[in-house]
Amino acid sequence: METVVSGIRSTGNLHLGNYFGAMKNFIKMQQEYNCYFFIADYHSLTTHPNPQNLHLHVKNVLVEYLAAGIDPEQSTIYVQSDLPEIAELYLLLNMNAYLGELERCTSFKDKIRNNTENINAGLLTYPVLMAADIIIHKATKVPVGKDQEQHLEMTRTFARRFNHFHGMDVFPEPIAYNFGKQLVKVPGLDGSGKMGKSEGENNAIYLADAPEVTRKKIMRALTDQGPTEPNSKPPVFIQNLFTLLGLVSTPDVVKHYKKTYADCTIRYGDLKKQLAEDTLAFIAPIRERIVDIENDTALINRVLKDGAEKARESSSKTLQEVRDLWGFKPF
Ligand code: TRP
Repeated sequence: METVVSGIRSTGNLHLGNYFGAMKNFIKMQQEYNCYFFIADYHSLTTHPNPQNLHLHVKNVLVEYLAAGIDPEQSTIYVQSDLPEIAELYLLLNMNAYLGELERCTSFKDKIRNNTENINAGLLTYPVLMAADIIIHKATKVPVGKDQEQHLEMTRTFARRFNHFHGMDVFPEPIAYNFGKQLVKVPGLDGSGKMGKSEGENNAIYLADAPEVTRKKIMRALTDQGPTEPNSKPPVFIQNLFTLLGLVSTPDVVKHYKKTYADCTIRYGDLKKQLAEDTLAFIAPIRERIVDIENDTALINRVLKDGAEKARESSSKTLQEVRDLWGFKPF
């Protein structure tokens, strides 16, 4: 069985971008693959170095993983910082990661542009830690959104370089994977780019948001006067609403609004109301489970204890191989 690894940074609550970009694939893949799904708490420190929130944010992601349908009987679920092997592999991989390639990484350039007062080395070596996360279990497939493609390319580079340097095929070269079709990019509500926390609270729809909040966010999404010529191409912020509708509504509904856009009879108020109701219907069962699981401390502890144990079996085996190849040995 092929091995799958993926994780989400614990920077708060999960939103629809996380769900459609990553978790939906996690849930499907867990039946067919040997899956490791983790909570990237070390990675969260590169931009959210806040000891007050760390613990709660880890819990949020865990609870939302379980509520969305990641099954601890099928998948190995753990917290990144519970596996010391990852930190050690990261340290060793850093010896063959070059400053130039790390500085050229798009996510690094974006983050330092938006984060000028905290350009730390953790941010620079983010892709090295991510590579360690993945290759520690010798994964071949990594379910992630489109924005992670370059990180996966770097993971392959680091894996290949390691194999070459040590003259051994230790690591497979993993690929970014989406079940069935292309990688998904989930747009935000502000009309610009992807749905994400760093783009502002109102840009993202969270799984844990109360229905009134979700409704309000969607009704506030940017629109314009509407199309003036038949069959015109919608501007990006309108296209984004169609994309979101495509994720949560039925094909008939999407077709209806595309048609009314094409013949200029569309009413954006109706489109947004529909989007809000379909989004709420989609989120409701997940949200109910969040409330239940949140209060089940015994379940949370059991999942993380079992998960860390299983994950460490695999990670310590890989790390031993790596240490041997580097030439660490007792006297
Ligand atoms: N960089 C990923 C993101 O922002 C999170 C992540 C960290 C990850 N380590 C990983 C994803 C390993 C997949 C595999 O979404």
